[in-house]
Amino acid sequence: MKDLFPGVVEVCPGMVLLNDFADTAELATELERVLAAAPLRQMQTSRGFPMSVRTSNCGQLGWISDRQGYRYTAIDPVTGKPWPAMPSMFQTLAEQAALAAGFDHFKPDACLINYYLPGTQMGAHQDRDEMDFTAPIVSVSMGIDARFFVIGPERQGPSTAVDLRDGDVLVFGGPARRFYHGVRRLKASEHPRHGAVRWNLTFRKAR
Ligand code: SIN
Ligand code: FE2
Repeated sequence: MKDLFPGVVEVCPGMVLLNDFADTAELATELERVLAAAPLRQMQTSRGFPMSVRTSNCGQLGWISDRQGYRYTAIDPVTGKPWPAMPSMFQTLAEQAALAAGFDHFKPDACLINYYLPGTQMGAHQDRDEMDFTAPIVSVSMGIDARFFVIGPERQGPSTAVDLRDGDVLVFGGPARRFYHGVRRLKASEHPRHGAVRWNLTFRKAR
């Protein structure tokens, strides 16, 4: 970990944490609109296990998982309609965060919404269903605290912990773009604005 500027921490080469970068009160209003059009759902892994977090998407493409595997689709399989448009505020936030972390011209076409309750977690995985690995990933945290971990290019090995709080934005690109990462089981707590839940918005360039 290396402090680059006040509130800007290099976790490892290519991974930058922007502390308290996002105004999550504004995001929550837009998020509500998105979820009214594309409700949260519990997806299954390709092996048929339910994922612990609930998800939805906005943008031209949405990331889904079912018995056929992981992929991006333009149509929400639950509603049969295109995913709701990415709010311009989301787009601007993602671009500005990428820029602050040193990645120019980030134009996300997909925003995955993850909803965590206390006790849920996300196992170690790579984000690798996108076509262009030169674009970074921008990941925004809202609500209760979580402990994120990053391992490296292989699934096994020691991990580095990153505590993510409401408003924190984690950007990973360059060498860290394909690093294994995940979220430890969430402890019960309460956020004054968002309640006893955590939201994560993951912006990606899928195509
Ligand atoms: C993810 O890696 O897909 C989610 C990360 C997070 O919830 O912070
Ligand atoms: Fe991920």
